[in-house]
This record gives sequence, C-alpha cells and structure tokens, in this order.
Amino acid sequence: MKTLLRLPSARVNWTGVVVIVLTLVGPHALAEDRGAQIFQNQCASCHGNEGIALKTPILHGQEPAYIVRSLMAFKHGGRIDQIMMSMNSIALGLTEEDIGSVARYLAGQDPCEIDIKIDYGREGFREEFSAGREMYAASNCGHCHESFHHFAPRIMGQKASYLKLALSQFQAGVRVAPMMPQMLQSWTEEDFQNVVTYISGMRLMRACNSDY
Ligand code: HEC
Ligand code: HEC
Repeated sequence: MKTLLRLPSARVNWTGVVVIVLTLVGPHALAEDRGAQIFQNQCASCHGNEGIALKTPILHGQEPAYIVRSLMAFKHGGRIDQIMMSMNSIALGLTEEDIGSVARYLAGQDPCEIDIKIDYGREGFREEFSAGREMYAASNCGHCHESFHHFAPRIMGQKASYLKLALSQFQAGVRVAPMMPQMLQSWTEEDFQNVVTYISGMRLMRACNSDY
C-alpha cells in the first residue's frame, strides 16, 4: 500500500481537494447538512412525525434565534425540561456550532410536514375556537408572539398538548417568560382549553392548505 501511494502518478493533494469542495459547496450548505443530520439522528424521534403523540413542540419553521436561545437555556440550566430533563442533557451534548446548524435547518422546514390531525368537526370545536380567539386578542398575546417581541416564539399552529404543557409551566412558575404568570393567574380551565383550541386550530385553516 505504502509504495503504491508513493507513486508520483497516484499522489493527490487532498488538502487542495477539500479546499475546492468547500469552496464549491459553501459553508452554509455544509452547516445545513450538518443541521439536517443532527435533527434526523438526535431530534426527529421526539420533534418529528415519529414524536407526534409526545408533548413536544413542533420546531419546523420556528424562529432560529428562539431555537438557539432555548437550546442555550437548556444547556446552561436556565430552563429545565420537567419531563426527565431530557432536553437539558441533549442540549449539553451540542456545541454552539451544532446549535446554530440545527436552528438554521429547522427554521427552513415546513411546519405543515408535521402531520397533525385536528378534528374540526368535533362537538364544541367552533365555540371553543371563537372564545379562544377573543381571549387571545383581549390578552394581547399577538403583541409579542406575532412580532417576535422579547424573542417570543411562533405559536400559531403549535401542537395542542405542548401548548397545554407550556401554559401550565408558566402558571406554576416553573418556566419563566415576561408577564405570563400574571396573565394566566385568573384563567379558568375553560379559558385554557379555548385558547389552546384556537392557537392549535389555526394550523390547518391558515397555513397548511386545509380544505376545511
Ligand atoms: C426524548 C425526547 C426529545 C428529544 C430526543 C429532543 N427533544 Fe427537544 N424537547 C423535548 C421536550 C419534552 C421539550 C419540551 C420541554 C419543556 O418545555 O418542558 C423539548 C423542547 C425543545 C425546544 C424548546 C422549543 C420551544 O418551543 O420552547 C427546543 C428548541 C428543542 N427541544 C430542540 C431540540 C433539538 C435541537 C433536539 C435534537 C438535538 C431535541 N430537541 C431532541 C423532547 C425532546
Ligand atoms: C410580553 C410579551 C408576551 C406576551 C404578551 C405573551 N407572551 Fe407568551 N411568551 C413570551 C416569551 C418571551 C416566551 C418565550 C419564553 C422562553 O424563552 O422560554 C413566551 C412563550 C409562550 C409559550 C411557549 C411557546 C413555546 O414554544 O415554548 C406559549 C404557549 C405562550 N407564550 C402563550 C402565550 C399566550 C396564550 C399569550 C396571551 C395570553 C401570551 N403568550 C402572551 C412573551 C409573551
């Protein structure tokens, strides 16, 4: 082998080849490939279609800066995943570069690919949806959540089970966000249900070409 490699005709300048390939592909494309790889290997089982029944957020189409902030908060303990701390240990295993790559990859994905089924025809849906829309408007949720104010994430069309989890964490004070505990203090079970039906229901009606 050694002698073969030493033959002048078989000598290849690998550094040169790598530099040329890097220049052709571009650092962004490589970072995105890396992001896709990280997502498939380490995240999809909970955040992709395989994890649809879990109380996990959809990350497809989320603001990349919010994904980065959340992962850094999990990594450094500013946010604690109440279910077995799995997100904390996952974030600990990611470098800042990994976090940037996976955030950029996720931000470019279509949330409609996450195959959520909503029963728009079920009894009470319309009433809950309308009451929730009023509550959402009266509470000015859109002020932050539709303008990325205070780094508030996109929540329209988020999974209902995750919205419930997040709101209950804010109410109990185990997760911190500006104004959330004060706002939620006076809410009844019905208010929570209505607002969650509204926010999660916005998914197919507006964004995902539902024929409903
Ligand atoms: C074992 C399941 C599991 C795996 C695997 C997993 N997550 Fe999570 N993730 C969760 C859960 C559960 C939450 C919600 C935790 C909470 O709020 O208490 C979460 C929350 C998040 C959030 C916060 C999003 C928001 O809307 O607030 C981000 C960002 C995130 N995960 C990114 C990732 C990335 C990136 C990977 C892969 C590197 C990953 N997760 C792998 C279960 C998982
Ligand atoms: C003052 C700005 C502000 C207002 C008003 C506000 N939020 Fe938030 N909300 C935030 C921020 C910031 C976060 C992210 C906190 C973090 O980084 O963990 C958040 C997080 C959330 C989350 C968790 C989302 C996720 O992906 O983890 C939900 C659900 C939510 N808010 C619902 C609401 C609802 C419903 C209202 C109206 C009743 C509301 N918010 C009003 C700033 C706001």
